[in-house]
Amino acid sequence: MAASKVNVGLLGMGNIGTGAYKTLEMNRRLIEENTGLDISIPKILEKDTGRKRDVTVLPEQFTQRPDDILKDPDISIVIELLGGIEPATGFMLAAMENGKHVVTANKAALAANYDRLVGAAKANGVMLRFEASVGGGIPILNALTTALLANEFVEIQGILNGTTNYILTQMAEGGLSYGDALKAAQGKGFAEADPTEDVEGHDVANKLSILISLIFGRRIPPQDIPTEGITGISMDDIARAAAEDSKIKLIAVAHRDGAGIEYSVKPAFVKNSHPLAGVNNEFNAIFVKGNAVGELMFYGRGAGPLPTGSAVMGDVIEIAKATTGE
Ligand code: HSE
Repeated sequence: MAASKVNVGLLGMGNIGTGAYKTLEMNRRLIEENTGLDISIPKILEKDTGRKRDVTVLPEQFTQRPDDILKDPDISIVIELLGGIEPATGFMLAAMENGKHVVTANKAALAANYDRLVGAAKANGVMLRFEASVGGGIPILNALTTALLANEFVEIQGILNGTTNYILTQMAEGGLSYGDALKAAQGKGFAEADPTEDVEGHDVANKLSILISLIFGRRIPPQDIPTEGITGISMDDIARAAAEDSKIKLIAVAHRDGAGIEYSVKPAFVKNSHPLAGVNNEFNAIFVKGNAVGELMFYGRGAGPLPTGSAVMGDVIEIAKATTGE
């Protein structure tokens, strides 16, 4: 039987856009064999067409006009990987108003406009998926919204930023200075376009805001989450943690407290005997406690083009399966 053809438009081909494209390029035949879906990305909105990307992309795939994707009747799914709140939010809303399903990794846009985006998906009868926005390649959102739905969630806690975890690991174990470790994290494609988002903890606050929406059904804007980053951490702090048989980690937490929820993002000493102390470099880990399932821990690469690309393409395949009946 012929495979079902699915055309996808890509908004943004930076590090993550390239990782998503490469994930599909590497595994396209396998995906077709496993799912009966022939997925391709014929159009890409991107200004920087000359950058070396290590993927096969033809000049005619690139466009500078958003409507070439947002209004193309042959495109059924739009992947938004531009980052930043605007124009990304406007493009996602336009895509959904035009009947297209949307996949995004954009935690800043989601955290700022969660209700508008989720509302637009409902109003237009399309799917909006954002697995890659939290925990990179870790399928945490999928688990929370499918297999764990029978639970009342009590607590979520974890390391949700690869860049800062990489910096803290390299300062503690690799002997790198803060500045050199940040440069290395940027070179590996972990950091945000503006790394202030990472190191000041805002990226984690965006992710925690999304998690709180999903598991507690409450909208806490990221700016209302008490947030402290790692810019104030010195080599002396790291040595002090080591002397106390601990590591410094940037920890996000949200838990029920009576009828309310308590939440924060801040660096903390974590005893070496605690599982979070062994989460190094760009790896993330998320503990979840549900009233039926008890404690769970999810672990994997929280940043990087291919792990994030895996989550993006997983969402695309899920939507394509649901909408083609494959
Ligand atoms: N800059 C983010 C991080 C990318 O370092 O975790 C993944 O969301």
